[in-house]
Amino acid sequence: MPTRTADGDRRGPRGGAARPQGPMVAVQGVDVTFRTKSRTVHALSGIDMTIEPGEFLSIAGPSGCGKSTLLRVIAGLTEPSAGQVTLRGTPVVGPRRDVGFVFQRAALLDWRTARSNILFQAEMRGLPKAWARKRADELIEMTGLTGFENAMPFELSGGMQQRVSLCRALLHEPDVLLMDEPFGALDALTRENMNVELRRVWEATGMTVVLVTHSVTEAVYLASRAIVMGPRPGRVIEEFTVDIPGHREYEPTLESPEFQRLSARVRELLGSGAD
Ligand SMILES: Nc1ncnc2c1ncn2[C@@H]1O[C@H](COP(=O)(O)OP(=O)(O)O)[C@@H](O)[C@H]1O
Ligand SMILES: [Mg+2]
Repeated sequence: MPTRTADGDRRGPRGGAARPQGPMVAVQGVDVTFRTKSRTVHALSGIDMTIEPGEFLSIAGPSGCGKSTLLRVIAGLTEPSAGQVTLRGTPVVGPRRDVGFVFQRAALLDWRTARSNILFQAEMRGLPKAWARKRADELIEMTGLTGFENAMPFELSGGMQQRVSLCRALLHEPDVLLMDEPFGALDALTRENMNVELRRVWEATGMTVVLVTHSVTEAVYLASRAIVMGPRPGRVIEEFTVDIPGHREYEPTLESPEFQRLSARVRELLGSGAD
C-alpha cells in the first residue's frame, strides 16, 4: 500500500515516488450525447475539471444528471462525444490499468472466497502471484476483513462484500479510485461505518478518489472538494472546498459549523429528495 510520509510525499511499495507532476485527472470540455433509435440524450455538457493527486473529490447530483457517465468517461469505458480526459497527462482512449472502479453492487464471484475474489484482479492483469498475495493480505487487514478471508460471498454482509470489492479495486495500486454510489445499497448504520473506514483508508494512503454519491452527508464528510451537478444536460453547477482539516472523527465533524454550512448549501442546490 502506498503510504504517506511526513512530508506528504507518496511512495509505492516498490520504492518509486508515485506522485506525478501536474493534475492526476484533467477533464476538458467533455460532452456526451447518447443516441438510441427512439431518443437522443445529452448526458453531459461542457464538463471541465481537474483532480489533483491525493484529492478526495465527491460528486453529488440528482439521478440521471450524468454522474455515472462522467466516471465512465474518466475510466475510459465511455467515449466522450467531444472533449478529452487525461490521466497523469496522457489521454484516456480506452480502459485504463491505472484506475480502480467500485460499483454500487459488489459483483463478487459467488464461487470464490473473499481473498480469491480480491486476487481475481491480479489474475486478470497477470500480476506476479507472490506480490499480489502479499498485497491482498495488506488490504484485507487495512479494510478490517481479517478473519473473513476464506468466507464465501453469501456468508458476508453487504458491508463486508463492499469491502472485498474495495480491496479488489485497490489490488493493482491504481493511481485513481473511482467509486459509483458504492454504499447506496447499504443500511444507514453500515453506510456510516463504511464512510469512516473509507476516510481512514484515504487518510492513511493519500490515494486519489472520485466518489459519486446521492448522500449529502457522505459527500461532505468524505471529501476534500465537492462538486454538485445538475441535470439536462448534466453539468457542474457549484464546487466547494471542504475546509475541515486533519483527521475527521464522525460525530464531531457532522456537528462542525463548516460541515453544516456546506451540507445546507448542497441540499439547497439539490432541492427536495436529497438525503
Ligand atoms: N448507454 C446509454 N445509452 C443511452 N442513454 C444512456 C446511457 N447511459 C446513460 N444514459 C442516459 O444518460 C443520462 C445520464 O445517465 P447516468 O450517467 O447514469 O446518470 P446518473 O448516474 O447521474 O444517475 C440518463 O438520462 C441516462 O438515461
Ligand atoms: Mg449513476
